[in-house]
Amino acid sequence: MTEKILIVDDDIDSLKLIGLMLQRHGYEVLAANSGGQAITKAAAEQPSLIILDVMMPDMDGYEVCKRLRANADTQGIPIIMFTAKTLIDDKVAGFEAGADDYLTKPTHPAELASRVKAILARTPTQSRPETKTSAKGLTIGVIGAKGGVGTTTIALNMGAALTTKNETPILADFRLGQGSMGLMMGFGRSYGMANVLSRPTEEINQRLIEAEVVAHQSGMRALLSSSRAKEAQLTYTPEAVLAVVRTLRTMGRPAIFDLGTGLTPLNTRIQREIDQLVIVVEPLGPTLAMAREMLRELESGGFQGRLHIVVVNRAQAGLQTPWHEVEQALGREIRAIISAAPELAFQANEAGVPMVLFQPSAIVSNQMIKLSEEVNTRIRTLAGGGEATT
Ligand SMILES: Nc1ncnc2c1ncn2[C@@H]1O[C@H](COP(=O)(O)OP(=O)(O)OP(=O)(O)O)[C@@H](O)[C@H]1O
Ligand SMILES: [Mg+2]
Repeated sequence: MTEKILIVDDDIDSLKLIGLMLQRHGYEVLAANSGGQAITKAAAEQPSLIILDVMMPDMDGYEVCKRLRANADTQGIPIIMFTAKTLIDDKVAGFEAGADDYLTKPTHPAELASRVKAILARTPTQSRPETKTSAKGLTIGVIGAKGGVGTTTIALNMGAALTTKNETPILADFRLGQGSMGLMMGFGRSYGMANVLSRPTEEINQRLIEAEVVAHQSGMRALLSSSRAKEAQLTYTPEAVLAVVRTLRTMGRPAIFDLGTGLTPLNTRIQREIDQLVIVVEPLGPTLAMAREMLRELESGGFQGRLHIVVVNRAQAGLQTPWHEVEQALGREIRAIISAAPELAFQANEAGVPMVLFQPSAIVSNQMIKLSEEVNTRIRTLAGGGEATT
């Protein structure tokens, strides 16, 4: 299948020139000469890639990029920013706006072609002749407002719950050197994530990841980080993480990411690959204050309507803020409350089996099963395409 590339530039000569170069490499080329037109065409045509000029009169490339990222229909389309500027600040601004790569004008045709090829290779999803939704896959991110609040537990149990509902989730633990998910699943050390992230970005694809994924006895698959402390020192690029995320989302239904704590650079980088985001908080003052900040940040970043607040109680009721006060403190509705179940949490961890499988009838298991169903239904609905939710 020929891949479609949308070129956006107010300069017609430039459009023609780049268009020609890409056509020579066998791509189908679409053009837009303004930001507004680009946004409309991107949503309607679903190109595999957008090449976007920064300096345009009405709406500049950064703004176009931000708007494309804020729209669920276009947020997953890779973007290369194209500009005459060479300042490092502009490059940073481009990445912050959500660009995947950056090219300066004038560009050598060979360089253009190789960048385009590299980006398209990273997103095999786009070229598959399937429906838009299933090709792109669905993702759930789970993030803690603070460390130790139960983020990994929620991610793991949502995955396990969906496995029993005829879904085929894939889990990913991005916390190199702090990989507790594997331990909770009863695996020893799993270096899958580190092995993948230490490869050059252009080598990261489904085959590579498939070889590193482990399967739990429940059938649930996961790409894990190990708890080997040194693993935390592995250096990798945000682009590599993005490549992993984009590949995983085509492999799982849904892909569930344990994003650890807070808005790290990594989390910010992959934000737009997240369809639904679960924020885990504990009912304690300082955590709630941190959560409020985080929610505000996420909402202004386009996450409105895709956030789910989950309160995990890990201690006795009397020692925590009551839930209505939690809602008040956060100024937002809570999606789910998870009861304290220290004994079950302990036993399940010892057994290497997620709580919802270890004791499906427990109150806490029911709460997590219901949460997973609600969030999953939400992504399915948002993704549209008239898919059955079974
Ligand atoms: N509902 C619960 N009741 C009691 N204990 C729980 C509950 N949920 C999780 N726990 C326990 O709390 C501890 C922390 O959970 P978890 O590792 O999921 O948190 P985390 O936010 O991912 O931590 P980290 O910041 O280290 O990644 C674990 O021992 C877990 O078993
Ligand atoms: Mg964790």
